[in-house]
Amino acid sequence: MIVSAKDSRPLPLLAGNVRVIIEPDSEAASRRAARFVAALVRKKPHCVLGLATGSTPLAVYRELIRMHKDEGLDFSQVTTFNLDEYVGLSSIHPQSYRQFMQLNLFDHINIDPTNTNVPDGRALDFEAHCRQYEQRIHDSGGIDLQILGIGSDGHIAFNEPGSSLGSRTRLKTLTSETIRDNARFFGGVEKVPHLAVTMGVGTILESRRCLLLAFGGHKAEAIQKTIEGPVTAQVTASALQLHREVVAILDEAAASLLVRRDYYAEVERAQSLLEAGQERHLGIANQ
Ligand code: GLP
Repeated sequence: MIVSAKDSRPLPLLAGNVRVIIEPDSEAASRRAARFVAALVRKKPHCVLGLATGSTPLAVYRELIRMHKDEGLDFSQVTTFNLDEYVGLSSIHPQSYRQFMQLNLFDHINIDPTNTNVPDGRALDFEAHCRQYEQRIHDSGGIDLQILGIGSDGHIAFNEPGSSLGSRTRLKTLTSETIRDNARFFGGVEKVPHLAVTMGVGTILESRRCLLLAFGGHKAEAIQKTIEGPVTAQVTASALQLHREVVAILDEAAASLLVRRDYYAEVERAQSLLEAGQERHLGIANQ
């Protein structure tokens, strides 16, 4: 909730389903995203964060590490759940998402390792593992803030086009587009696993707030469809339009195909006025 700078009255959040914040470049966008995460961690030290992998959140994690080191941002009570993991990769495989998280975040902050959850790509019984993962999320009180990147085909986590918008954590076959996109991390298409364990779209929609990040012109089409297109299982990120609190933080390039960007800027301007206690500029009475 946002409160008035003057007298702590609750203020309405002006944006509708998806609040769109456009920053000049990915560095500025990442800093903004990190501030969102840090604000939650400070306000609710035992919060539950949903985390994503891929190149998009890297600078956000770097900034959170900096905040931990320079500003004492405390992760000691935070619990995390990652979105997904490749099937067949052990937790110590260099391309596993568990390793990604260790290297790019967990090893550099004061999080309790037992509070970090990443699906197990080598579970013996995937059905049971997926069920338990959902149960653990539920038992933790649910995800407060889910960080999301987006695939070039508009997928979130590994919910490829055609995934049910009500889907839960399960095994998913990757599309050739996703395999191609991720081949750069593996040094060749033939080395990319074909299956992943992933939270479902339905699982993601249950988090209290979603923070969608997209940087670069190669994400522009997916972002336009996600925010302004119809809700469709063909672009699983579009299901976020059904969520009550989504903040999309984009750089200029990723936002370049948005048709209503002037309006999004207008909403942000009004939001800033509200947060600065300048309600009278918005025609809100009783100032
Ligand atoms: C993979 C991950 C997604 C991620 C996407 C985009 O498919 N499962 O969670 O959003 O890649 O990755 P990048 O940020 O590297 O573009």
